[in-house]
Amino acid sequence: MAQIGIFGAGYVGLVTGACFAELGHEVVVRDVVPQRIGELHAGRVPIYEPGLTELIAKNAERLSFTLDVREAIADADFLFVCVGTPPTPSGDADLAAVWTVVDELPGLEHSVTLVMKSTVPVGTGEKVRAALDSRGLRHVGYVSNPEFTAEGNAVHDFMHPDRIVVGAFDEADGNAVERLHDGIEAEVLRTDVASAEMVKLASNAFLSTRISFINEIANVCELVGADVVDVARGVGLDHRLGPHFLRAGIGFGGSCFPKDVSALKQLAGNKGYHFQLLAAVIEVNELQKRRIVQKLQRYLGSLHGAKVALLGLAFKPNTDDMREAPAIVLASRLIAEGAEVRGWDPVADGRATMPSLRQCDTPLEAVAGADAAVIVTEWPELASEDWPALAAAMRRPLLLDGRNFLDPEEARRAGFLYEGMGRGSADVVPQGVPDAG
Ligand SMILES: NC(=O)c1ccc[n+]([C@@H]2O[C@H](COP(=O)([O-])OP(=O)(O)OC[C@H]3O[C@@H](n4cnc5c(N)ncnc54)[C@H](O)[C@@H]3O)[C@@H](O)[C@H]2O)c1
Repeated sequence: MAQIGIFGAGYVGLVTGACFAELGHEVVVRDVVPQRIGELHAGRVPIYEPGLTELIAKNAERLSFTLDVREAIADADFLFVCVGTPPTPSGDADLAAVWTVVDELPGLEHSVTLVMKSTVPVGTGEKVRAALDSRGLRHVGYVSNPEFTAEGNAVHDFMHPDRIVVGAFDEADGNAVERLHDGIEAEVLRTDVASAEMVKLASNAFLSTRISFINEIANVCELVGADVVDVARGVGLDHRLGPHFLRAGIGFGGSCFPKDVSALKQLAGNKGYHFQLLAAVIEVNELQKRRIVQKLQRYLGSLHGAKVALLGLAFKPNTDDMREAPAIVLASRLIAEGAEVRGWDPVADGRATMPSLRQCDTPLEAVAGADAAVIVTEWPELASEDWPALAAAMRRPLLLDGRNFLDPEEARRAGFLYEGMGRGSADVVPQGVPDAG
């Protein structure tokens, strides 16, 4: 069993640490934020990720947390880089935290393998390798091992991945990282470092492309009277295409897709190549987040003074992550139009990113007296809501389903004027929304 140091106690670092401990390795997770490490020492997990709290508790013997870089690297055989790589204002990936980790290694005397899990531009491995060499750290190996887990399902994804990608400069380093995953059944793809880096960016770009594609199909469905839910099902049944990431909605968000698509587009641009397809994917996604505002205006006219409830705030269900959540753009557009915005989410706190939003404890509290409700995030909790009671509590029972979560007929039976995304033109010529009761 190996000794592993992990840099970053975020969504990826904590899941990676807990899962490697579950596989039997000794793991030290290091972060630079004292509050984060303090919470972990107190037995609290600072992020919401299903199953993670239990996994950390179960493996407490082999898992420790520290602020001290020396503790993380002291006896480590592997050092995993799981720090954030957020976008810079230019849309490139900000590698400041990655370079801080590299800067913290000098003085390291024993052989160790640095494993990059953070999503980085292609070419980063070459640069880190050169920096290690120039600092006299030739005995530090370097491997790219991109992460593909999805927030909300990350523990399961780590233990049951579709593939493990290992890109190495040195075959023995790649072999060692591959062996670390013993106990996980998955195809291992061995590549050079640049190709491993590209697999990650290309995967996220392709998933985002599918989402923007089906969103454009949904928008055309609205114009021609087709139902995108049936269309997507029909398309997805083609084994060459498959059903995944063909759910129309109000666009993708989160800490990965928007920044990784932008980073790949900029990476190509920096080399003189205009990645037109990704430019369109990004633009479609931006416009998609705003369609709900146009739909609301079609029903309500001016939104000045309108009360709008956002149901679900996190960028997707089963996470508390608000990074690039479509709810943020939606709330700020609504507020700019003069609307009063309330929001409900079972775990995410929207107040930091949307200071003008009133956060409510229940969907009923959010919709009470509202002129419209919008399903922004398809939390499973919403399935068991008492929708007739919600409709009755609203000033006007208008429900825009940004995720095509509800059955349209049931929603209408519950008393709503209901519209989904791309579901034909049934409500295309609204006559205004009657007051409830
Ligand atoms: N979130 C995901 O589901 C996901 C999935 C695949 C890949 N990724 C990629 O993995 C990387 C990490 O993402 P995340 O969502 O876990 O980020 P995060 O922001 O949740 O966590 C990053 C952590 O690194 C810490 N950190 C910063 N500098 C440090 C240093 N020098 N030493 C130790 N810790 C340090 C931060 O304090 C923070 O706690 C990103 O590159 C991201 O694109 C994320």
